[in-house]
Amino acid sequence: MKFFIDTANLSQIKEAYELGILDGVTTNPSLMAKEGIKSEEGVLKHYETICEIVDGDVSAEVISTDFAGMVEEGKKLAAIHPNIVVKVPMIKDGVKALKWFTDNGIKTNCTLVFSAGQAILAAKAGATYVSPFIGRIDDSSWDGVELIGQIAQIYTLQGFNTQILAASIRNALHIVRCAEAGADVCTCPLDSILGLLKHPLTDLGLAKFLEDANKMKAQMTVA
Ligand code: G3P
Repeated sequence: MKFFIDTANLSQIKEAYELGILDGVTTNPSLMAKEGIKSEEGVLKHYETICEIVDGDVSAEVISTDFAGMVEEGKKLAAIHPNIVVKVPMIKDGVKALKWFTDNGIKTNCTLVFSAGQAILAAKAGATYVSPFIGRIDDSSWDGVELIGQIAQIYTLQGFNTQILAASIRNALHIVRCAEAGADVCTCPLDSILGLLKHPLTDLGLAKFLEDANKMKAQMTVA
């Protein structure tokens, strides 16, 4: 399973990349807005900077909702860097745009996916990635990870090549459960990635090893 970071924050992207386990980045308009970018040029420049930091796919979302607008925006985004993946919402014109980008060799990420039916449409349109939002499904009292498993089963059975990109990850357990359910990629906030590190027995065990190593060192000095 690949690890993407779900943020537009450059220092968090650098921190995750320096860990050596980062395969890509996803952003969305809300995450871009959080970074205080003020112009269209600023947005394009920000994506370029992300592509310079990370060697991997970087999802950049269109904000048009009509076919022509999405195609025009997507072409501009794709021209920034070969690693740009055009992120398109799961709406009627979005499906048409996904097909257009597929036919024109531009990678896509179909976003705002909340059902298996939507995931089938995205795959039929040739999306490179499909992004089910598991945290937001959990928020509405359904099990988001179950959807990952259902899509994985359908894609395997039907031979679809679209990669399942589990999005709206809220914690480390989501990442583990998505891996079990067959996600190809998890896109996560930095805290959830770092949450995978944590176990009290690791901390206790390391403290004991260091204590014993220090005792041994002290004895060596005396001898
Ligand atoms: O990639 C989509 C993701 O950013 C949505 O996450 O936490 O806003 O539901 P969240």
